[in-house]
Amino acid sequence: MARGFTEEGVNKHMSTYLVTGGAGFIGSHACQTLLKEGHHVRVLDNFSTGKRERLFPGIELFEADITNLEAIRPAFEGIDGVFHFAALPRIVYSIEHPIETMQANVMGTLNVLVAARDAKVSRLVYSASSSAYGDQKVLPLRPDMPAHPLNPYALHKYVGELLCEEFSRLYGLSTVCLRYFNVYGPRMADEGAYVTVIAIFRRQRAAGLPMTIHGDGGQTRDFTHVTDVVRANILAMNSGKVGNGEVLNVGAGEQHSVNEIAQLIGGPIAYLSPRVNEARDTLADTTLTKELLGWEPNIKFVDGLKMLLEEK
Ligand SMILES: NC(=O)c1ccc[n+]([C@@H]2O[C@H](COP(=O)([O-])OP(=O)(O)OC[C@H]3O[C@@H](n4cnc5c(N)ncnc54)[C@H](O)[C@@H]3O)[C@@H](O)[C@H]2O)c1
Repeated sequence: MARGFTEEGVNKHMSTYLVTGGAGFIGSHACQTLLKEGHHVRVLDNFSTGKRERLFPGIELFEADITNLEAIRPAFEGIDGVFHFAALPRIVYSIEHPIETMQANVMGTLNVLVAARDAKVSRLVYSASSSAYGDQKVLPLRPDMPAHPLNPYALHKYVGELLCEEFSRLYGLSTVCLRYFNVYGPRMADEGAYVTVIAIFRRQRAAGLPMTIHGDGGQTRDFTHVTDVVRANILAMNSGKVGNGEVLNVGAGEQHSVNEIAQLIGGPIAYLSPRVNEARDTLADTTLTKELLGWEPNIKFVDGLKMLLEEK
């Protein structure tokens, strides 16, 4: 059991957490929540896609690149747990630059695992991706289905899961992998692999342009609110039932088509050629996540989208 945890998996103590990629979209939300809970937060980031203005007061910054093991080792000193968000989440970029993205997503993750192991941190929570599923014959997607990554980024994220499991098995480092399904919310990316149609449509509507849809718009995604993702991370850090590289889905368990989102936002639509190398549909089965973490999604998509559209 990780340091400071009770039998029920509750962390009673103030802890010091390392958040890799803490200047990014999801990482910055995690930092905000951890700070609110009274923990000490150290961010490890190289600001490749992250932004300095997302570093909240009270955060300790360790600026370095996870591809350099010796440079990042000191960031792990005195750390209780690691939330590993840092990655280059760019599908098209990963197809064009398979080496650079492999360095950050796979070698970077390996370096983080080695540094965490050597610093004897209590647990590492890895940000995995639903893209590991690729196209499957049946929905909803369950972690026991064979992975079928359709692009380099998806493959990198999947290899990260295998590395986590290996570090738990070989070296006794406590790890858990959370496969997020299309995360949305304040500060979400407006470019990259996870630029959701929501962000694109909002940008297009603000500019008075039609909303562009690739293909017939019947493709579906399971959109998950960032606060639900952060809650899953904190539960995963504290649960007494995980720690051996378990792979758990973090998705809202709702399917929404791109056409449906365009209708909810409202406005003219322009249809473009379909995208390849991406799954047609995603939908999370979160039975195991509930069983092992006690996590269930709290925010329904219609409510989360409404909150986002009302935001200035
Ligand atoms: N956003 C989603 O829908 C989604 C879905 C599934 C999985 N994920 C995973 O969640 C994690 C966070 O995603 P996000 O959407 O917040 O992305 P993001 O791009 O906003 O954040 C990534 C952060 O990692 C940092 N980073 C990148 N390469 C680095 C390096 N070599 N060294 C140090 N820091 C580095 C960036 O500067 C940035 O702050 C990623 O691991 C991503 O693969 C995201």
